[in-house]
Amino acid sequence: MTDTDPARVAEITKRESARLAERIPRSIDFEKRASQSLAGGVACSWHALDPHTIYGARGRGSRLWDLDGNEYVDLHCGYGVMVAGHAHPKVVEAVRERVGLGTHFAMPVEETVEVAELLAERFGLPLWRFKNSGSEATMDACRIMRAAAGRDLVIKVEGCYHGSSDGLAFSYWVDAETAGPSERPVAVPNTAGVPEVFGAALRIVPFNDLGAVERVLVDEGDRVAGMILEPVPMNVGVIPPEEGYLAGLRDLLHRHGAFLAFDEVKTGVTIASGGATERFGVRPDVVALAKAIGGGIPVAAVGGTEEVMRVLTDGTMEGEGTFNGNPLGMVAAKAVLSEVLTPDVYPRLEELATGFARDLRDVIERHDLPATVESVGCRGSIHWRRDPVRRFRDETETDDKLQHLAWLFQLNGGVFQPAGDPWAFSVAHTSEDLTRSVEILEAFASAVRA
Ligand SMILES: Cc1ncc(COP(=O)(O)O)c(C=O)c1O
Repeated sequence: MTDTDPARVAEITKRESARLAERIPRSIDFEKRASQSLAGGVACSWHALDPHTIYGARGRGSRLWDLDGNEYVDLHCGYGVMVAGHAHPKVVEAVRERVGLGTHFAMPVEETVEVAELLAERFGLPLWRFKNSGSEATMDACRIMRAAAGRDLVIKVEGCYHGSSDGLAFSYWVDAETAGPSERPVAVPNTAGVPEVFGAALRIVPFNDLGAVERVLVDEGDRVAGMILEPVPMNVGVIPPEEGYLAGLRDLLHRHGAFLAFDEVKTGVTIASGGATERFGVRPDVVALAKAIGGGIPVAAVGGTEEVMRVLTDGTMEGEGTFNGNPLGMVAAKAVLSEVLTPDVYPRLEELATGFARDLRDVIERHDLPATVESVGCRGSIHWRRDPVRRFRDETETDDKLQHLAWLFQLNGGVFQPAGDPWAFSVAHTSEDLTRSVEILEAFASAVRA
């Protein structure tokens, strides 16, 4: 077992950064203009890439093109939104037709009900409301649990990301030095501007640790409304839940009169027709969905049992939002759920995923790279360390520099994927698309091991 040579990694990173700059002169130039009117030249802080932001132009199926005309196999899929593939004809047709009929009425339309029915069937939860972003969906998921339980505290997992609302923007990517003991982490705001006071309504636990949740419930169970988590964390790479963890959480919480919410913004309708809820056979009280359900149009949803959703049906809780259930989003979601991401596509996604993970592992083993592969359905990631990651703090021990270089290689080789986040592929991807990424990993491995 040999570690990679940091000096060599730095030297190749310099070379690959220069290669990238040669490939994207228009993007580099455009960034100057963009920065005059967009803060930092981007609409979302995550769009800013190191060493250069890349501006996009168009997409079709498994491919996207940047402003310079470079074609990429898209393994980013817009943070996992585009599992339907870019510009899927069924989504394009549905949206085009709706635009001409008017797109906003402050009235639910037929499709609002149809999409709720489709989601109810997939997730086994009877009642739904719509939102426009994952942040709103997770915010409402917590509000519903709090209103239904008549309690204030919510348990949150360190390393899970639930969006940008003040109430949940805590303990995502934290500095282990300031985040307290790993078994009993403290709530740390994700960014400047989030008042610490919101963290007082959270209790933070490590992932895959039932004992930590039980300790919170024993100490403060009568104040805990529920727990929210990504059932498969996908914002610090992919971390699979250990056998029995999700079912154990539900039992523990219910024993203490508290609820369980799955944030399925990334896993919902991607890793199975009914997301993690179906894949792991654990039905939570509340599910938050977004990203892939809209096929590229902003749509989010919150579903729940009769017991929790009664707070909305009886008016105990207000569920607001001007654009909730916007008809444009609803027709897109209907097309995605009934014509594109239909239950029969998941076995093929699974087969592609298994082959992809196997081929990546093969490269890693042959070159003795310090890396492990996690793959769950069409989502997966390489953790740049030798031991598997089972909770967030393990991820802080990964080799960032190697990860960054591997990402640069993919970019220069024509594969766009998130820097550090999981890959996603769509129903339009082929095994050849995925093989391109494997071949690039091979080239990267040969370069760092030469
Ligand atoms: C698991 C999870 N929940 C919530 C969100 C927030 O979604 P949005 O960015 O649509 O607000 C994200 C975004 O990446 C996410 O990954």
